[in-house]
This record gives sequence, structure tokens and C-alpha cells, in this order.
Amino acid sequence: MTLITDVALRRVLDSRGNATVEADVYTESGGFGRARAPSGASTGEFEAIELPAHEAIASAREEAVPRLVGEVYAGNQRDVDAALHAADGTDDFSGIGANSAVALSMAAAHAAADVTGAPLFQHLGGTFRGNSFPVPLGNVIGGGEHAADATDIQEFLVAPIGAPSVEEAVFANAAVHETVADILADRGVPCGKGDEGAWAPSIDDSEAFEIVAEATDIVEDDAGFEIRFGLDVAGAELYVADAGVYEYSETTRNTDEQIAYLADLVDEYDLIYVEDPLDENDFEAFAALTDRVGDQTLICGDDLFVTNVDRLERGIEDGAANSILIKPNQIGTLSDTVDAIELGVESGYEPVISHRSGETEDTTIAHLAVAMDAPYIKTGAVGGERTAKLNELIRIEQNA
Ligand code: PGA
Ligand code: ZN
Repeated sequence: MTLITDVALRRVLDSRGNATVEADVYTESGGFGRARAPSGASTGEFEAIELPAHEAIASAREEAVPRLVGEVYAGNQRDVDAALHAADGTDDFSGIGANSAVALSMAAAHAAADVTGAPLFQHLGGTFRGNSFPVPLGNVIGGGEHAADATDIQEFLVAPIGAPSVEEAVFANAAVHETVADILADRGVPCGKGDEGAWAPSIDDSEAFEIVAEATDIVEDDAGFEIRFGLDVAGAELYVADAGVYEYSETTRNTDEQIAYLADLVDEYDLIYVEDPLDENDFEAFAALTDRVGDQTLICGDDLFVTNVDRLERGIEDGAANSILIKPNQIGTLSDTVDAIELGVESGYEPVISHRSGETEDTTIAHLAVAMDAPYIKTGAVGGERTAKLNELIRIEQNA
């Protein structure tokens, strides 16, 4: 019933105005699935390779489509993803592009779900999963690679951990986003938005901490449930390997100073989440910080692990973190993504399902987060390509 009978690939726009890959998958009994690849700006050195969209499409048409059409059942995700690996022939998807691979992999899942009539989260999660909802981490102030002349720390992320529902959590994040704008206006700081819809003011990190702490307090009082916040430091972008230091606008920190700085911030602001506090090659420094504050906060590896089971295994051995960021396009297929989630969960690493800075209206990650019972999803606070996922979570919650 879910035998793949046709595949279409095309170039579509992403939220930055760049070309990305969209895939359509059709099955024998009339199933249809569509998905699009996102794209990073602060990409990890060890991610699967994204090719220019037209190249990825040409290569996938030549190599992958013949191995899928008439050959593989969309309902067997492992077979679909094995066919994508075979078509690619490399270990980093540089043959057909991780962007083609992830779009095809996710489109096949949508098509298989369509055949059964079940929503995607149920198809992916099965009967025994998909019963809890992730807390959305909302990006409200940001800089780094996502906005010029803004904060050094890439993302300040609101976490409405006490929200009684996804719906309330989503609106709390939007309220903090708006309150941040009010505080910035009171302080006479003009600003636009970065790639993920977060405010991108020309302020230093310490002022951003003050503002986000104040805004979360205000909204917490209003909402009547606990709201904390966290960070994506994107440490690899700050790290200057030759000098062995983290370079901030006003100062530099060596690795020990960076660890102490982050540990102090966790204490001072009661941070609930710290992503990529250190360089993507420095498992040891990650482990030192996790040792220090891992019982108070999540230390999450994004560029460190790149959704890759081999890198996660090394991290588990080293005690490098207690959380893993999950981005399907970092590894290229849903099967590889689920393997990373499952290894993480078995090892006490909380999986955080994530968007990329370059996004589309694709909602697959909302379903994935629910299907995997992930405790958190990071998908922005406002902006159409972000609200696509947030609003889908609200729908899933209502219909589950
Ligand atoms: P990216 O940023 O999509 O630009 O890599 C998001 C992140 O670092 O988490
Ligand atoms: Zn990150």
C-alpha cells in the first residue's frame, strides 16, 4: 500500500530567501507526503553536507529517485533511509546532499502517515509514544551568526516550564518576545530582528541578560506559571582556535574562563538550558562544565554532537553534556535522527528537537517532538516559518 510510485523534487524559498529542497512522495494507494529541508547559518563542522539546492536536486533525481520509485515502501522508514544512503554513497551525504536526503526522508514519512490516515506524530511514535508535549524554547534576543551588530551570545531562549499546555506556553513565549520589545523601547534601543525572529539589538550580553530576566519575570507574574530562560551560546562561532580563546566584542576568555563564566551565569540567572557553551571540538571542556552545573541545568550539545550517534557516543563516554540538540538535516534521515534521540534518552541525555535559522513552513519537527516524547522543542517565538511549527503543536495538542 505504501509502495512509492512517484517522487518530485523542486527548489523553493526558505525564510532567508535562499533556495532549499522540497520533496513530494506519492504511494500506490494514493498516499501523498511533502517536506522541505531547513538550512543552518552557524552550522557545525561535522554536519552532513548541504549542497546548493539545484545540485542536490539533480543528484537526487539521478541517484535516489530510481532507488525509491517502485522499489521501497514509504511505510518502512528504515528501507527508505537505507535507499537514500545507498544512493548517496558517502558518509556525509555529500553525494545527493543532506538537503535532498532529509526532504525525501521526511516526505516519505508524511506519505506513509497519509496512507494510514494517522497524523504524522502517531505514525512516527506508534501506540506507546506521543503522549506528552514538549516545552517550546522561544528565541527572544539574539545575535551571533543570526544578526549583525547584536549580542555575542547567539540566542536567549525563554522556557515556560510551568505552562499547563503547549498553547499557554506558546503564548507565554510570544508575550516575553513582546515585553522584551517594550523594555528595549523604554531604554531607547532601536532594533530589528535576526534570522529566527528574535530581537537583534545592539546591546552587550549583560544588558540582554537583564532585559530577558525582567521580561520573563513580568510575564511569569501575569501568566501565573514558572518561566525560566536559557541560552544557545554557539560557542564554536566565538572560539578562535589559533589563539585558544573565546572572542567577545569587549573581551576574550580562555577555556577555563569560559567555563567559569557560564557556570556563574547558570547560578546568577537560574538558567535552565545552556546549548553549545564551548567549542565543538572540546569534549573535555564540555565535561568540565557539565560536572560543575549539570545537576542544575541542561548542557546541550548542538555543533558538538550534530545529531550524530558516533559523536554522541563519545560525549556519553566523556560525560560531555546531559542533553542533545536534534536537527534532522544535520544527519540527513529520520532513521538516523531517531537513533540519536534513542541513544540520548537511554543515556540520560534529554533530546531537544530543533529548527534551523533558515526555515520553511514545514511542520515535521513539531510531529517528531511529540512522537518522541521530547521534553523541549526549539523553534522560535514569532515569524511565519516559526509559527508554522508552534501552531501545529497547538493543533496536535487539541486533537491528540
Ligand atoms: P543554525 O542555528 O540553524 O544557524 O545552525 C541554530 C542553532 O545554532 O541552534
Ligand atoms: Zn545551536
